[in-house]
Amino acid sequence: MSKKKSATRILNNPSRSFRIFTFGCQMNENDSEKISGMLKALGYVEEMDVNKAGLVILNTCSVRENADERVFGNIGSYKTVKKKNPDLILAVCGCMMQQPEIVNQIVTKYPQVDLVFGTHNLHQFPELLNNYLVNGNRLVEVWDDSDTIVEDLPVDRKYPFKGFVTIMNGCNNFCTYCIVPYTRGREVSRQPDKIIEEVKALVADGCVEITLLGQNVNSYGNDLGEAVNFAALLRDLNTIDKLMRIRFMTSHPKDLTDAVIDAIAACDNVCNYIHLPIQSGSSRVLKAMNRKYSQEDILDRVSAIRKKIPGVAITTDIIVGFPGETEADFLETLKVIELCQFDSAFTFLYSIRSGTPAATMADQIADSVKHERINRCLEVLHQISHDINQSYQDQVVQVLVEETSRNNPERLTGRTRTGKVVNFAGDPEDIGTELMVRITQAKTFSLDGEKIRQEDNNGTAHPDDDPIPATS
Ligand code: 5AD
Ligand code: SF4
Repeated sequence: MSKKKSATRILNNPSRSFRIFTFGCQMNENDSEKISGMLKALGYVEEMDVNKAGLVILNTCSVRENADERVFGNIGSYKTVKKKNPDLILAVCGCMMQQPEIVNQIVTKYPQVDLVFGTHNLHQFPELLNNYLVNGNRLVEVWDDSDTIVEDLPVDRKYPFKGFVTIMNGCNNFCTYCIVPYTRGREVSRQPDKIIEEVKALVADGCVEITLLGQNVNSYGNDLGEAVNFAALLRDLNTIDKLMRIRFMTSHPKDLTDAVIDAIAACDNVCNYIHLPIQSGSSRVLKAMNRKYSQEDILDRVSAIRKKIPGVAITTDIIVGFPGETEADFLETLKVIELCQFDSAFTFLYSIRSGTPAATMADQIADSVKHERINRCLEVLHQISHDINQSYQDQVVQVLVEETSRNNPERLTGRTRTGKVVNFAGDPEDIGTELMVRITQAKTFSLDGEKIRQEDNNGTAHPDDDPIPATS
């Protein structure tokens, strides 16, 4: 295929339609919402069928090796798609594009890719697309880093009643296994007034829940002077009228100060839920990971959280098979999971990320050992999730209804303030509202319930939820 295309043919592309595929975390989802927002502002419409779309964007993730592989497989498949849909423009962006060797591979081996841009120059996308449409030449534009956050990009939110709000970009921590500091650059915080302005606009637009995003929200504001910090931001956002639920992710244990815990406890609208990735329970492995906290620190933080925030749910991330992890280290992780009683966890097999310090560490762990450990880890985690969920049996919880259930259109699915998924029979008109639901069956990964009429409420609220006002 020639790299040069006829400008006229592309400019005449009748569909001005697009499809975005997002890999990876909420940060990427939020970036995709911005890309979609920019395209819709240009008059593009969404087209789910890639054989009909004028533009396909793959927003990539590079946090683990299998994420890379999935993306390359996906890009490969567009050779065939482009045979059926020759006018299609294929754009690839996101974290993988911040790695020069990956861009090189795309440029040399994947002629079906027309546009490449990175995480720091997302806002340039309309300009790049326009240049491509005018010149028909493949374009690669990736900025190494950026010390500013571009404000006021249009955002096309997936849900009208809840939205993501990025409060900071980048990460300064350089955990030895992690590629993110290389793909997302250094920490840059948004000015608090810009965040508050965005949240107020979302609420005015009907949003009742926001999730504040950052690689390490607890270090929000470190680059903006002493008066700006995450605890103060939570307290400010808590005063916004009609904003019922404030969530955030992700919290690094080393920066989870008492001031942040106190703010969560004091703010009614901040959900009693914390995602606190510990990665390992072994102090030796944590040191090798450069996490800057020990097993003792984890236990101290979790106990402070539980003491101050009644009914809090705590979830975590665990990596098994980090280089040099012994059976004794792994047993420390299981011990910490038991002691902390995590509601649930994302578990990962350690995956080599080239360019990171851990990639060249001695004692890489065999896949068979990693798999055996992850299975043991899941067994412990599932038992804890099961036991915690049992405490919801017959309780009444507040559920923000999110959508109809994927498996049964007559059932709705939503979340408690503690992040538990609840399925129950209901009316799609309830989507976007907060309802009282009595839990009829507690399962390991979700809760089944029945919507209660307000007058049936006898006040037996689950301790994880705000008390329900008595009506009788
Ligand atoms: N291998 C396995 N898991 C990783 N994570 C980040 N880097 C790696 C890696 N190289 C996990 C961490 C992090 C989550 C988002 O992904 O647990 O918290
Ligand atoms: Fe990666 Fe560590 Fe930064 Fe999280 S804190 S993004 S794991 S380097």
